[in-house]
Amino acid sequence: MKRKVILDSDPGHDDAVAILLAVGSQAIDLLGVTTVGGNQSLDKVTYNARAVLEMAHANDVPVHAGCDRPLVRPQEVAASIHGETGLDGVTLPEPTRPLDAGHAVDWIIDTIMKNEPGTITLVPTGPLTNIAMAARKEPGIVERVKEVVLMGGGYHVGNWSAVAEFNIKVDPEAAHIVFNEPWPVTMVGLDLTHQALCTPEVQKRIEGVGTDLAHFVSGLMDFFRKTYKDNQAFVDPPVHDPCTIAYLIDPNIVKTRRCPVDIELRGELTTGMTVADLRGPEPSPEDCHTQVAVKLDFDGFWNLIIDAIEKIG
Ligand code: BDR
Ligand code: CA
Repeated sequence: MKRKVILDSDPGHDDAVAILLAVGSQAIDLLGVTTVGGNQSLDKVTYNARAVLEMAHANDVPVHAGCDRPLVRPQEVAASIHGETGLDGVTLPEPTRPLDAGHAVDWIIDTIMKNEPGTITLVPTGPLTNIAMAARKEPGIVERVKEVVLMGGGYHVGNWSAVAEFNIKVDPEAAHIVFNEPWPVTMVGLDLTHQALCTPEVQKRIEGVGTDLAHFVSGLMDFFRKTYKDNQAFVDPPVHDPCTIAYLIDPNIVKTRRCPVDIELRGELTTGMTVADLRGPEPSPEDCHTQVAVKLDFDGFWNLIIDAIEKIG
């Protein structure tokens, strides 16, 4: 049985790779991509989502645009990492499928309510604005969602402040809602995604696939390598967002640890921090609905991505 997934994203170089992994995997049934203002403005990331699906020969997948700004705070974009378009460094194909009608929040709610309970997995890889809005607009979705597997946060390090990660930091109120609803939440944070480095060896393997899509991904990685070096002193860029999809395809690739997680909203230095209580003993799933990703199977992860690029062709 394929996993039914809604990918809520803000493409974004690594969001683009997450879309490709979802499209190229036999284990995932990508019901739709929804977009949220994040790495860039909503209009730019929505265009990017449509163009990436076009590049992946997957324009049967609907795209719905969602919230253009955080719930409470002014919008902050990540142009320093993703450029002015949100996907700088590559030439995008013109999308042939028109943008789908209907707000992302309504489409997420309708899709969850009309599918069997326990069958839809939400995969947010941007700020959590749409998901929080959906949970508030139709609280009935919370018990129907199978699980939420999100890229965001980190229990030992931040990237948008010393202790806060971008997706959580820019809309902490939305994150607070999502982490405090009783659905199962897996936080794939920086602790895990900083292990998902696109090394030169990995990039050579991607290029070795030899297709236009492979060169496109390599172009994304070239740009990402430069901005991560200039801004955060990384030698190789961490490819965060597809770690969520990799976990769904094969949970052995991402080792997790169950623990309570909450979001700091008022800290003078710590707003947007994902505060994980890692004191032992590890709680049971009955007692604790949140878990954090801790250890990545590096080769397994990149094998999945390269397979997906090959399958898409
Ligand atoms: C997250 O922020 C964005 O820039 C990336 O797309 C990823 O979702 C990493 O902090
Ligand atoms: Ca993202």
